Amino acid sequence: MKTALITGITGQDGSYLSELLIEKGYRVVGVVRRSSSIENRSRLDHLPPETRKQIILQYGDMTDASSLVGIIKKYEPCEVYNLAAQSHVKVSFEQPIYTSEVTGVGALNMLEAIRISDQEVKFYQASSSEQFGKVEASPQNEQTPFHPRSPYGVSKVFAHWITVNYRESYGMHNSCGILFNHESPRRGENFVTRKISLGVAKIKEEIDNKLFLGNLDAKRDWGFAGDYVEAMWLMLQQKQPDDYVIATGESHSVREFCEAAFSHLGMDWEKHVESDQAYTRPAEVDMLCGDASKARQKLGWKPKVNFKELVKMMVDADLAFVKDNFTYKHSGFRLSKR
Ligand code: NAP
Ligand code: GDD
Repeated sequence: MKTALITGITGQDGSYLSELLIEKGYRVVGVVRRSSSIENRSRLDHLPPETRKQIILQYGDMTDASSLVGIIKKYEPCEVYNLAAQSHVKVSFEQPIYTSEVTGVGALNMLEAIRISDQEVKFYQASSSEQFGKVEASPQNEQTPFHPRSPYGVSKVFAHWITVNYRESYGMHNSCGILFNHESPRRGENFVTRKISLGVAKIKEEIDNKLFLGNLDAKRDWGFAGDYVEAMWLMLQQKQPDDYVIATGESHSVREFCEAAFSHLGMDWEKHVESDQAYTRPAEVDMLCGDASKARQKLGWKPKVNFKELVKMMVDADLAFVKDNFTYKHSGFRLSKR
């Protein structure tokens, strides 16, 4: 049985990738951080017991190189997917040094752990469209220069180039997937799409009345996370390692996402959305749109879920979530069940 190691297994992508790899017959080892609560396993909670048995969770941290050395030695994975990161762009302005240690140097820690193990490992690095930042051409492809706009983006550029450097220097099978924004009902609640889908559901259920957002003009190329983890796996099945843009090729504004999400539940977004400077960033990425032709040609990959379907999927899931988790009290307040 092949063993795959996933860092960031408790995150959105980690959970979808685990399911995909288990379906394909892998034993999955996931790196988890010690926390005082076990809440951060919630994205794996829905897995049936027989699937959970194929996942081993092992304590470790991207900033603790010795833990990564120990994990590689102990489990001898043939594929390593490095998904762990402090992945929130705005938070990276508040914690720039921490972000660079986890998101940037963390990738190097893992590459070193693999290099000194002398094992044959295929390595996937979770690169990001944030690396294009203040875009120098549109749509962005593998040739577009990087111009990151946040400590997160800069850290990802470091992780990307060190991954390429270890490929060129040591002949390692390292691939970078430059993934554009991808979302799902499992998306963290402080990313804009999930903030909107959850906000819409709470407003529909009369738990809230307003949704406060930052820059509505920003445009993103949004796809579905379940489609994108397939591309990660495909990259590691290639004979030659390489770097690929993964995107839908369609760009929509935050405003358009709001319109689509509110109108799906028969509401007018303009009555509920208000602007709040607290959610803007010191430097913004105005517009991202990816060209995934190389992935289409070489990996045979293309997205299956379109923008409208994604919005609907997220809003429907959050409406069910809100109905399940919030209850009406006769006093007139609605209280969270959790
Ligand atoms: P996410 O939901 O924020 O998950 C991040 C994961 O990293 C979590 O499992 C988190 O663990 C883990 N982590 C954070 N700090 C760590 C540390 N010091 N040591 C070990 N693990 C740590 O992110 P995602 O959306 O799934 O994205 C996966 C990866 O793809 C990230 O690297 C992200 O930057 C990159 N990416 C994402 C997108 C996107 O649109 N989603 C696009 C391009 C690239 P806890 O649960 O303990 O916090
Ligand atoms: N989070 C958030 N909250 N973003 C808002 C809000 C708000 O209230 N209002 C407007 N936005 C705008 C942001 O300014 C940004 O332009 C856009 O919505 C998307 O923000 P996020 O959903 O936080 O995602 P991101 O594009 O900054 O970063 C995500 O995608 C990257 C790939 O390009 C993250 O998943 C990164 O980890 C990933 O690399």
